[in-house]
Amino acid sequence: MEHGSETHEEKVVLHDVEPTPSDFQRDLLTGLQNLPKWVPCKYLYDDVGADLFEQICGLEEYYPTRVETSILKGCLNEIVSAIGPNAVLVDLGSGSSAKTELLLSALEDCVAYIPIDISKQQLIEVAHDIRRRHPRTEVLPVCADYHKPLKLPTPTRAFQRTVFFFPGSTIGNFEPGEVVSFLKRFAVISNPGDAFLLGMDLQKERSVMESAYNDPRGITARFIKNILARANRELQAGFDLDAFRHRAFYNAEAGRVENQLVSTCRQTITLAGVTVNFEPNEPVTVEHSYKYTLGGFQSLIHRSGYRLEKVWMDEQRYFSVQYLLSETHGDI
Ligand code: TRP
Repeated sequence: MEHGSETHEEKVVLHDVEPTPSDFQRDLLTGLQNLPKWVPCKYLYDDVGADLFEQICGLEEYYPTRVETSILKGCLNEIVSAIGPNAVLVDLGSGSSAKTELLLSALEDCVAYIPIDISKQQLIEVAHDIRRRHPRTEVLPVCADYHKPLKLPTPTRAFQRTVFFFPGSTIGNFEPGEVVSFLKRFAVISNPGDAFLLGMDLQKERSVMESAYNDPRGITARFIKNILARANRELQAGFDLDAFRHRAFYNAEAGRVENQLVSTCRQTITLAGVTVNFEPNEPVTVEHSYKYTLGGFQSLIHRSGYRLEKVWMDEQRYFSVQYLLSETHGDI
């Protein structure tokens, strides 16, 4: 784990282990030197990307945010009673935290709120906002990449259980094997009764899934291209943004929407002295968004040290909110 620093910002203490430009450069080069090429999607979310993502969440075509929020609202009583009083809520990839606000306003005496995000500016804003609204809850923000091992700050007050909140079907952006290793990492630091509350998108009609990633205003395309724009801003990479186009389609065999950038011509870029060639129509994978059946996802959970305690869905069964209970004593 990188060295952390602490910044005192108006009573909210930020634990700062933000990835550096050299992490980005290394990860980007690793992906671009592979065949097929890929770029690491976590770097989509700098301040520009976080802003574009907020816009995606408000799009008519992008059903996951809307449907997940309606499930959280409609089933809030059941969800907070599953969590119980005196919990610590850890928000993985807190983003704008609109969904968290729903939980925090309904939870009984939430001891601490620990938002973890890679996008620092948004994290600080959210931390202040939540602190203002929920003065009894300790707010302990961490700027970090939650894909890596991380140490959680310890709340001052005693608490009943830790609940990791992972909405937005972000878990669908991992490969299935990574889902298992990701959950296991939390299972080993959990006590029995600690839980995961996660949002998981479900398989449905192809056209619905594909439209969600192909909005006519091109906001998703700008979001995906932001990874190249960011490389230009931070690493002076010299990508010609017009020489790549965004493509998103459902791969039924793999059960995922694939978001790609396709090179429109033969071109070459140089990054940190390394030359990378692109063929005409060569795809670069930016993000996979897996869609599961309930059963398919459950088999991953069972390999991860968790068991499915409860699941809430919308009427159309587009989306699920799942409550997983840790089954371990740090022994997997
Ligand atoms: N977790 C979100 C998803 O897979 C992330 C996301 C939303 C996204 N819109 C996107 C990823 C567009 C790539 C492109 O749905």
